[in-house]
Amino acid sequence: SSVTVHAPATIANVGCGFDVLGLCLTAPYDTVRLTRREQPGLVIHHLDDYDLPTDPSRNVAGAALLALLRAVPEPLGFEVEITKGIRPGSGIGSSAASAAGAVVAANALLGNRFSHKELIDMAMYGEAVASGVRHADNIAPAICGGFTLVRAVTPALDVLALPAPPLWVAVVHPQFEVKTKEARAVLPTSVPLALAVRQWANVGGLVAGFLTQDNALIARALEDYIVEPARASLIPGLGDAKRLAMAAGALGGGISGSGPSIFMLNKDEATARAAAEALGSVYRKMGIDFHLHVGPI
Ligand code: HSE
Repeated sequence: SSVTVHAPATIANVGCGFDVLGLCLTAPYDTVRLTRREQPGLVIHHLDDYDLPTDPSRNVAGAALLALLRAVPEPLGFEVEITKGIRPGSGIGSSAASAAGAVVAANALLGNRFSHKELIDMAMYGEAVASGVRHADNIAPAICGGFTLVRAVTPALDVLALPAPPLWVAVVHPQFEVKTKEARAVLPTSVPLALAVRQWANVGGLVAGFLTQDNALIARALEDYIVEPARASLIPGLGDAKRLAMAAGALGGGISGSGPSIFMLNKDEATARAAAEALGSVYRKMGIDFHLHVGPI
């Protein structure tokens, strides 16, 4: 028997919520197909041209599935076929999608014996392979959908799955590389209290804005005062892109995850298309290739 899963792209941080907030997109997505095999263990194939490792312990889906195999008493074997619809390194949760899709597909084949929380915990092993950090801010929305708040990872995973407001997102993926490791190395190790106060006021405001579908509050609360300023120099064009997209009517936005993609939230499809055009115009002018994505969240 086999199961095929569409594993969606996600936006980590969502402005002010560094390492805690995440938003699930409807597209693009990875396709992960799992088939039970007689022999125990994993065989991984990539049906795309990204030249990703297929050794299970070095593959994000493989590492997540190895965690799942450790949690089941019986010896199990899976054949895994992955088709990347999300470009690796784009900053919209490419590694998280493959890892999440793999454990969700395995769980379906096993009669759904694991909870979302257990699956998130397993899929985080894939993130550790990709970036060295077992973070859940892309994994949680990829598995739960909607909008998620990772309230704690230790001592126990505590994830809140919340409904996302009916917004449209515009994403630009400029074709340069920002490694998550480097994007974390530029961050401050301590933060002045006054800045921290502004930041957690925004996180609370943003969560409230999403839950009450208050677009004006969402627009006021998105801004990240701590992480994005430290990373801005890694993303040429960020300031212009945000300014032009806001002028086109976007509510606000920022770096998606650790970049290089930039996301903007919008009240409707027409505004999202105008914002995407504005984002693209900045990189066209700079002579940097880019991909755009527009869709409902
Ligand atoms: N929250 C993480 C970061 C996401 O911003 O570094 C990395 O994908």
